[in-house]
Amino acid sequence: MLEVGGGEGELAERIVNELGAELVGIDQSERMVEIQRSKGLDARVGDAQELPFADGEFDAALAAWMLYHVPDPHRAVAELARVLRPGGRLVAVGNSIEHLAELWDLMGRDREYRREVFGRETAEDWLLRSFARVERHDVEGWVTMDEAAVRRYVASWSDLGSEHDVPPLEEPLRVRRACSVFVAETAG
Ligand SMILES: C[S@@+](CC[C@H](N)C(=O)[O-])C[C@H]1O[C@@H](n2cnc3c(N)ncnc32)[C@H](O)[C@@H]1O
Repeated sequence: MLEVGGGEGELAERIVNELGAELVGIDQSERMVEIQRSKGLDARVGDAQELPFADGEFDAALAAWMLYHVPDPHRAVAELARVLRPGGRLVAVGNSIEHLAELWDLMGRDREYRREVFGRETAEDWLLRSFARVERHDVEGWVTMDEAAVRRYVASWSDLGSEHDVPPLEEPLRVRRACSVFVAETAG
């Protein structure tokens, strides 16, 4: 199995330990690769847009909450399809434009551009350019954030503005989560 953009490798660790799968992780961040290696994972620095693997090398691939960071997601999707065997599967996770809507509204930010990134509204069409079949599974939920949590989150993502612009909250903010898990299969 291949994971691209696995971050700190939490999911990879579970896949290896709980399923016994053989897994290689590629992440563009040296720090993330270091963290993955500290967990005993086989991790390498690399770019999802240019995978250092032969055609058909993997049975399955995973790209969780990362394809919206990649400058050319179409190229990354094509690369993931290339390194999968015929009938191999990619699991890709992204968000809907509605994800954290209340937080975007609180910060007065326009989230329309998110219709154009890899996510619930785009991914099915984009994956079908390189894969034969795509399934979409929507995951919805709610999180409650107090002011400190909102500040921390905003500080971690400049698209939401500056943490100094977070208005005082009289009560915790209830924020929706709206993600989609895509399972894409190469032609068999
Ligand atoms: C939001 S984190 C997601 C981490 C993890 N998959 C998770 O769900 O918690 C995005 C990760 O993708 C990595 N990344 C971004 N662009 C990449 C690229 N072009 N190739 C490989 N990794 C990339 C980042 O370094 C980061 O570790």
